[in-house]
Amino acid sequence: MKVAVLGATGLVGREMLRVMEQRRFPVDKLVPLASERSAGKTVEFHGEPQVVCAVSDEHFKDIDVALFSAGGSISRRWAPVAAASGAVVIDNSSAWRMDPTVPLVVPEVNPEDIKLNKGIIANPNCSTIQAVVALYPLHKKYGLNYVSFTTYQSVSGTGREALLTLEAGSRHVLEGREPSSPMVYPYPIAFDLLPHIGAFDSDGVTEEEWKMVRESQKIMHLPDLKVSCTTVRVPVFRGHGESIIAHFDRSASPEEARLILSESPGVVVQDDPANSIYPRPRYCEGKDPVFVGRIRSDTGKDGALAMWVVSDNLRKGAALNAVQIAELL
Ligand SMILES: NC(=O)c1ccc[n+]([C@@H]2O[C@H](COP(=O)([O-])OP(=O)(O)OC[C@H]3O[C@@H](n4cnc5c(N)ncnc54)[C@H](OP(=O)(O)O)[C@@H]3O)[C@@H](O)[C@H]2O)c1
Repeated sequence: MKVAVLGATGLVGREMLRVMEQRRFPVDKLVPLASERSAGKTVEFHGEPQVVCAVSDEHFKDIDVALFSAGGSISRRWAPVAAASGAVVIDNSSAWRMDPTVPLVVPEVNPEDIKLNKGIIANPNCSTIQAVVALYPLHKKYGLNYVSFTTYQSVSGTGREALLTLEAGSRHVLEGREPSSPMVYPYPIAFDLLPHIGAFDSDGVTEEEWKMVRESQKIMHLPDLKVSCTTVRVPVFRGHGESIIAHFDRSASPEEARLILSESPGVVVQDDPANSIYPRPRYCEGKDPVFVGRIRSDTGKDGALAMWVVSDNLRKGAALNAVQIAELL
């Protein structure tokens, strides 16, 4: 396979290279692409330095699969070019996700949608991916009709500059100084919580919250699913946590849900709260599964479930999901 990676120098792009190495994805030729800024730099693949090129038309000739993680405007510009050259684009940005002609795929949930692609397949938002991997097996058993998400999203979800912001900001606070730039967020993120991911609409809902609502409906083929959502950026480097409350047509039991999830693809149940066993971002760093714990009956509604879901946003939330799609292709 000839594989192009656009955004190869970014957090997701580098993780895609690592995931392809680890899963022995059959790459005969790798074409790492980024902006002019990175042209001539190298990224490592199977121990060998690979020279990064500034993206241009010629790079997509003869490419079989193009993995994109360079942001929405870059995807809008280059995905049609790559697709017209005969590549299948797997795009991590939000540019194509809600396009009705573009499948939005999580392999554990809707792998069959891949067949509908016309050259572009969208990889969902990181928080949405881990949520639907945990919810879909329960939906199949009980019939999901309402879900409430509250997310605790790490700074790596914003890209490499945000890692520096948290690192430098934390140091400054501990040294008694004001956190300084770069200001990726409206406020310093160190030692704080920001209920603000993406722009607010006129009703006060953020772009990230709408992504979780609409992408969950599209991936699970549940257009009428009711979804409540609050997304929060937290001062954690890597790994997103989500508090999920799910209502079903049929009454769900925590014991049965635990069993269903323990047998579901891509899920690891970590649920022994009496012994302080529950999913944590630090534990899930660099790991593939979606970890689910704190599975319990919801205190506010009979037959509903509450749970706590954690996954590495750079692995299953981005790079791994994209490479799994490529494997299915
Ligand atoms: N981080 C996550 O957890 C996550 C999860 C799901 C989806 N995503 C999506 O994945 C994409 C990348 O995220 P990231 O976290 O990897 O960001 P990042 O660390 O900031 O990396 C951005 C990448 O895009 C490249 N790029 C920027 N401008 C470009 C241009 N004009 N032409 C070509 N390449 C350009 C950069 O190349 P240079 O080195 O040349 O600047 C870099 O390789 C975004 O669309 C994001 O929404 C991220």
